[in-house]
Amino acid sequence: MKKNILVFTGGGLAPALNPTLFGVINKAKKNGFKILGGLFGWACLLDGGKVIDLENIGISSIKKVGGTFLRSSRTNPFNIEGGVEQIKKNIKKYNIDYIIAIGGDDTLGAANKLFNQEKIPIIGIPKTIDNDLPETYWTPGFPSAAYYFSNYVEQIREDAAYALSRIYIVESMGRSSGWLASSGIYGGADIIIPPEKEIKVENLLRLTELRYKENGNFALIVVAEEAKFDQKVQGFDQDQSDSFKVKRSYFISLPLQKLIKEKLGINTKAVVPGNYLESGKPTKVDRKYAIKMGQAAVELIRKKKLGQMIKLQKENNKIKISSIELKNVFANNEERLLEENMFDWENLKPTQKYLDYMQPILGTYQPQKEQLYNKLLDKIKNS
Ligand code: F6P
Repeated sequence: MKKNILVFTGGGLAPALNPTLFGVINKAKKNGFKILGGLFGWACLLDGGKVIDLENIGISSIKKVGGTFLRSSRTNPFNIEGGVEQIKKNIKKYNIDYIIAIGGDDTLGAANKLFNQEKIPIIGIPKTIDNDLPETYWTPGFPSAAYYFSNYVEQIREDAAYALSRIYIVESMGRSSGWLASSGIYGGADIIIPPEKEIKVENLLRLTELRYKENGNFALIVVAEEAKFDQKVQGFDQDQSDSFKVKRSYFISLPLQKLIKEKLGINTKAVVPGNYLESGKPTKVDRKYAIKMGQAAVELIRKKKLGQMIKLQKENNKIKISSIELKNVFANNEERLLEENMFDWENLKPTQKYLDYMQPILGTYQPQKEQLYNKLLDKIKNS
């Protein structure tokens, strides 16, 4: 009799979800498992949830696309009355032998509790554009989001800010960590404001004016949606709670735009790519490792090594796939923040350490000035 694996995706969107599913489903089928797909994250195992048979569904089309064909939700079975009992009941109903949960800290945090407290056989595969899960070199989804974000920054800076002599503020996702915001350096961002530390407004204004003049009357600032300041600059709380009680704060770029315009008297405009950063096709690197991580999860099931999270690690300059016990990922209940020596908090720019970290993800950093078109712009500026 075939053993049944249930796979699902939970939490926010990330471009690597479909490739991860491809890795899991393909490998499971090849290894004689019956594969089931749960719709809407952990909600699939709650009463009223939906589990579908993936046996006869061709999946070749999902390998290179963004999104998740199994859809997603932020559902926490521990915050729902009788949630854990419902999950146990439905595992029996569908004859599920193993679960592969693909998600970020919320989805995998629940997986950790279900494995360690309830003995439910689970493997976790990380994903999140925030890159804030500990113990893995990067989280699938982050490489693509960083690629989209740095391109967005580059286009707004090189084209709009330059032509229109403006300061642009681009708001990034990433919640309480600055990994994604900092990737704006690849697009030539002049100033970056990650959310980890409180920023001095006076210093920000000084740097902004300086960079604006140095560039020849244009500049680009990246601000993380949860950035903190020593003066009142506050985004809007979005009261759309989900069962993980994720507090969302958006549009901090708007009060910041007002402040800069008022204090410096320079035309300033805020733009917000928002969920665009987590939608769309995965990059080659993201796709490659997401598929491998999906396959690795099935391999662990074959070896009956459960309660693990698949992870990436850098060894001898190569990215390798391994795993770690879920309980160790959540032992300190802490998000993975930008490392102290990865950011210059005085000049509001990532350091070489950050660029070194990003090398396997976005490639070698190329300063804007060395690019052909920028050399031409420099000539215009000096003529
Ligand atoms: O979980 C990752 C994340 O992308 C955060 O960076 C962001 O704050 C949030 O999700 C956005 O979620 P939603 O689209 O549900 O508001």
